[in-house]
Amino acid sequence: MLGAQWGDEGKGKAIDQLAAHSDWAVRFQGGNNAGHTIVVGDTTLKMHLLPSGITSHNCKLVLGCGMVIDPWVLDRELKQWADLTGERPEGDRLFISERAAVILPFHRYYDSAEELVGTTGRGIGPAYRDRTERVGIRFVDLPKAMADADYIADISERMNKQLATAGVTEKIEPGDLLADMSWISGRFSPAIAATGPMLSEALERGESVLLEGAQGAMLDIDQGTYPFVTSSVTCRANATHGAGIHPGHIEQCFGITKAYTTRVGNGPFPSELSLEEGPGKQMSEVGHEFGTTTGRPRRTGWLDLVALNESQRLNGYSGLVVTKLDVLGGLDELKICVAYDLDGEKIQHLPASADDLSRCKPIYEEHPGFPALSAEDWIKLASDSRKGSGLDELPADIRNYLGRIEDLTGIPVVSVGVGPDRLASIASTDGPFDVQLNEATF
Ligand code: GDP
Ligand code: IMO
Ligand code: MG
Repeated sequence: MLGAQWGDEGKGKAIDQLAAHSDWAVRFQGGNNAGHTIVVGDTTLKMHLLPSGITSHNCKLVLGCGMVIDPWVLDRELKQWADLTGERPEGDRLFISERAAVILPFHRYYDSAEELVGTTGRGIGPAYRDRTERVGIRFVDLPKAMADADYIADISERMNKQLATAGVTEKIEPGDLLADMSWISGRFSPAIAATGPMLSEALERGESVLLEGAQGAMLDIDQGTYPFVTSSVTCRANATHGAGIHPGHIEQCFGITKAYTTRVGNGPFPSELSLEEGPGKQMSEVGHEFGTTTGRPRRTGWLDLVALNESQRLNGYSGLVVTKLDVLGGLDELKICVAYDLDGEKIQHLPASADDLSRCKPIYEEHPGFPALSAEDWIKLASDSRKGSGLDELPADIRNYLGRIEDLTGIPVVSVGVGPDRLASIASTDGPFDVQLNEATF
């Protein structure tokens, strides 16, 4: 299950919907730069590290080896979950890969000096950098590191040099670093495990595994709008690798896309609209487009099919989940960006250079809008669709808009989001999302 745009497409909701029918849910990259929202009745959960499958008690959870994990954030999230449900899943149904990288205060301090990209400031890039430089600490490395005072002194010195060079005033004291490591080790040791082999054995037993992407294809370090990207491979090729299993296990791959586009942070965005007026303002206000992790306003724009087709090239989706269709209700017309104009030339790919991409002007095709419905009416439509009509329950103008997305991408739409709630979706009949959606289980 992958973000097909620039993140925040509604991955959390889609994972939550399938989790009741899955044995495992696995995060495979990123860290708490992610913010995945699940709404079930009166409860809204915002998950930054815990897989969104946590809502189903039958679903076991893995924080995979491709992740960078801030132990303090994980601790906080687990406390919130325990307050809500009384459950402490760590070591029982939640496992942390021994190979996952640990985010330490140093990484957060270092990230705070970042200005170009507009990162989430959570230490993600610095933690991946340390891993690539082979100086990072993984969960499995903690006991050895803690037993070696010289090593602790050396890495504190390296961290302080880097912080000083970046103009950051915070310093790392070796004693604090050691205390942090022993707290992390003690707090999480019941959950730290060889999760790759664990998942592989589960698959051999015939169990099902949901792989939960974070960020989106256009934020991929290799294939996205570099340098305005995150620091991990967000695409399908890393989904199994970051979980510690082989790619042959993937049976289906779903791309999650909004019916429009949003982006948080800096970087080119060809179909961007003004947040101050018109459709861009409606998307922002009706869609509550504020970052789940940082609270920053998300930039808004029309659906960008050039970007979506790049994302399809990279991920080969078997189905598209189109979210937040309800947000577009009441607009006179809808636009889809089908190509770019780059210095007078029509192109249908994303230029690799951010400078070139920032000069791209969107070329749109236009479609009639559809009326706004109340949240209750959308839920009723979704409920009626589950009696057998599926996507046919939607009015003709909406079906035409979705049909055009299918034509332009070659991907079937398998579910359409019409509100934040778990029940506010219309799935294709007998498709992968045509599943029983239960009331809250917590
Ligand atoms: P994620 O990072 O991909 O999991 O997405 P986020 O949770 O960051 O952002 C998606 C936002 O849209 C959340 O506030 C969701 O509750 C909300 N949302 C998801 N699907 C829908 C939908 O179909 N309609 C509406 N109106 N909101 C939705
Ligand atoms: P989910 O999983 C949207 C963006 C940041 C910034 C860039 C790099 O909720 O979809 P980073 O902190 O990763 O080094 O920041 O990536 N970004 C996201 N945007 N959704 C996310 O996650 C994001 N995670 C990172 O805003 O532009
Ligand atoms: Mg998000």
